Amino acid sequence: MSTADIGVVGLAVMGSNLARNFARHGFTVAVYNRTHAKTTELIEAHGDEGDFVPSEALEDFVASLKRPRKAMIMVQAGNATDAVIDQLAALMEPGDMIIDGGNAHFENTRRREAALREQGLHFVGTGVSGGEEGALLGPAIMPGGSAESYESLGPILEAIAAKAPDGTPCCTRLGPDGAGHFVKMVHNGIEYSDMQLIGEAYDLLRRGVGIEPADLAKIFSEWNAGELDSYLIEVTAEVLGHTDAATGKPLVDVIVDQAGQKGTGRWTVQNALDLGVPVTGIAEATFARALSSGTRQREGAVDLLTGPTGKVDFPADFVEDVRQALYASKIVAYAQGFDQIAAASAEYDWGIDLGSCSALWRAGCIIRARFLDRITEAWRSDPELPTLLAAPEFTKIVTDAQDAWRRVVSTAALAGIPTPGFSSALAYYDGLRSRRLPAALIQGQRDFFGAHTYKRVDREGTFHTDWSGDR
Ligand code: ATR
Repeated sequence: MSTADIGVVGLAVMGSNLARNFARHGFTVAVYNRTHAKTTELIEAHGDEGDFVPSEALEDFVASLKRPRKAMIMVQAGNATDAVIDQLAALMEPGDMIIDGGNAHFENTRRREAALREQGLHFVGTGVSGGEEGALLGPAIMPGGSAESYESLGPILEAIAAKAPDGTPCCTRLGPDGAGHFVKMVHNGIEYSDMQLIGEAYDLLRRGVGIEPADLAKIFSEWNAGELDSYLIEVTAEVLGHTDAATGKPLVDVIVDQAGQKGTGRWTVQNALDLGVPVTGIAEATFARALSSGTRQREGAVDLLTGPTGKVDFPADFVEDVRQALYASKIVAYAQGFDQIAAASAEYDWGIDLGSCSALWRAGCIIRARFLDRITEAWRSDPELPTLLAAPEFTKIVTDAQDAWRRVVSTAALAGIPTPGFSSALAYYDGLRSRRLPAALIQGQRDFFGAHTYKRVDREGTFHTDWSGDR
């Protein structure tokens, strides 16, 4: 009998938690996993949380879904996703929906959507953020796909999504085909940037000023009570306050300092290069992880490249300076991320509403933060803003922060503590406010060696100089 409102294929941690979330919200959930033991485990452990319809065969799973069928795939991204899509598509009928909740690359989502549309099926690529706990208790959900699919799928996703402080579900259809996975990708890129900036703040205050982790945990907790209020600052305070049970040392001191990555930061930067959007905050954060893991270069250089060891005279109230530099740099990183979403939306004709993006990041996801309320207001009051930094409120914040920001970046350079995030964000700020950039000289160089021509400030047209004659 077809009774299930929605189905989940792939019952690893994220899949089972999403299935439980659906069930806890009163939906009848069909569940299937290639290895049936996982399905049995889920039902044994959590079957009493709601109405589950387990199937051992994919045919039975599909048959248990109400029409139009909605099957959400939570399997490994890549080949596994393609394999499951093929199996499901063969069993589905026109009007049915396949939803991919994994971290797929948006180009794959575009390809899959186009192929399934040919078969009359809807393919909804959706970002799901919030980790394991979010999946169970309320993730931020970033769906792409057809407006028609969202009519019946939207209410189900909105029911299980996190709710923003004003009660709005953190789930909005962002646009067709790859729009949802694109926004999730940039969300992850911004997450990289946020984490790098927090890391730099920590490094300056620990290695530079010499504040111990337990005291830093208190500082981050205090910051979390103000305008920096966010999940990642909260997590930072928790990590810094944690003592390693085996050694009694701060846990952060026994963790190897090589940051891993699964690839979404890299994808964000690769795409930004294609679109020509300067996402310097995300790029520096991604490269900083690569530098940390580049053990050959680090080991080869650590004893050779001498310099200051972090000890200089730090300005009075340096902790507050760092807080302001962190906030300003973070705003720059978000501004750049939104520029990338806007550029992709124009390129792929997605019609993404930036206010909806920031609104749905307000709860459930890893970059949830109090200031997303203000970003949402900024885009809603002027969707045509040339940059988030031009929204009056944000102009004021970054402009007011700049004295502290400059002190932090210059002090960090003198102390020999790397701050690629803070420094590149400040350079971006100064780049945007410069009336003349040295790009004029670059155009001259390009014309000199490649006759690439240039434009003049005083006349219309394209010009080339006969450089040999001038010499
Ligand atoms: P996690 O990281 O949370 O463990 P994952 O590795 O992204 O999750 O995905 C694992 C899920 O993908 C599992 O449900 C796995 O099924 P099995 O339990 O049978 O291993 C599923 N999966 C991986 N490859 C698959 C494939 N080719 N066909 C169907 N399911 C597949």
